[in-house]
Amino acid sequence: MILRTIATKLPAPARSKLLMWKEAVSLWSARTEPCDVEKLRARSEVSLDRIFHSATVAGDWARWESRIASLGIPDGTGGVNPGDRRAIYSVVRQLAPQSVLEIGTHIGASTIHIAAALADSGSIEFGKRTCTTVDIRDVNSVEAAPWRHFGMRLSPRELLQELRLQDQVIFETSPAGDFLQIRQENYDLIFLDGDHSAAAVLKEVPAALKLLKPNGMILLHDYFPDLKPLWRDGIVIPGPFLAIRKLRHAGARCTALPIGKLPWPTKADSNVTSLALLLREA
Ligand SMILES: C[S@@+](CC[C@H](N)C(=O)[O-])C[C@H]1O[C@@H](n2cnc3c(N)ncnc32)[C@H](O)[C@@H]1O
Repeated sequence: MILRTIATKLPAPARSKLLMWKEAVSLWSARTEPCDVEKLRARSEVSLDRIFHSATVAGDWARWESRIASLGIPDGTGGVNPGDRRAIYSVVRQLAPQSVLEIGTHIGASTIHIAAALADSGSIEFGKRTCTTVDIRDVNSVEAAPWRHFGMRLSPRELLQELRLQDQVIFETSPAGDFLQIRQENYDLIFLDGDHSAAAVLKEVPAALKLLKPNGMILLHDYFPDLKPLWRDGIVIPGPFLAIRKLRHAGARCTALPIGKLPWPTKADSNVTSLALLLREA
C-alpha cells in the first residue's frame, strides 16, 4: 500500500522501472506451461511490408475511414490508438483469417476494425468470417453502460450495428484464463489485449497456442522490445515482453516480431506501434 502510494508520485519513467522490477519478480517462481508452437505461422512466411504497404488493403480501408471516424471513438481512454486500429484492420484484411479471437473488448475500438476487415476479406464460398471477443466485464451491459465512462456514446454492440457488422462478432463475458481453458473452437488469429501483466500473459500464450488453427498467429499489444520505451513519455508496459522472454527461455521456439513503424501516425507524434506478431522461429 505504502509502495503503491509512493509509486503514484514518481515520474513515469521511474514508475515504469518499478513496475518492470515488480513484474520480473512475479515471474521468478511462476510456472511455465508447455508451449506447442507447431500451429504457429513461421516467421519466414510473414512480410510486414506486404501487410502495411498493400494498395488493396489501403483502398478497402479508405471506404471505412470516414464511417468509422464519424463514430467518435476517443483516443486515450484505454482502447488501442487510431493508428493501431488501422494496423489491426490491415493485419486482418491482408492475412484474411477465417476466425479471430480477441481478448480484451473494452470499448470495442479494435473489435470494430477486426470486424470491418473480416467483412472485406470474406466471401460467400468460404463461409462466414467471425470474431469472438472476450472481456472480464460485460462491455454491453445496459445497466452499467461502461462505454460512457470512456467517452463513448455507443456500446461496442451498437458500434457494430451502426456499421452493419453485428453479424461478424460474438461477445463473451469471462476471465480470459477460464475462457481459453474451456474453449473448444479453434482460431486463425488470436489478439491478446486483456490483462497485460507478465503473469497473465505467461498463462494466456500457451493456452492461446492450443486454440490456434494450423498456420495461425497471435497478435500482442503493448509489446516493448528489450523493455525500452517506445515513446518520449518513457513508459514501458513490461508484461508481454517479459512473458515471451520467459517462455523462450523455457524452450518455446516462438519469436515476437515487433511491427515497429507504420506508414501512418500512431501516438505522441510518431508512427511507432507496440503491436507485435507472435510467430514460429524459422
Ligand atoms: C486495454 S483494454 C482493451 C482495449 C480494446 N482492445 C480496445 O481497443 O478497445 C483491456 C481490456 O481487457 C479486459 N481484461 C482485463 N483483464 C482481463 C481478463 N483477465 N480476462 C478478460 N478480460 C480482461 C479489461 O476489462 C479491459 O476492457
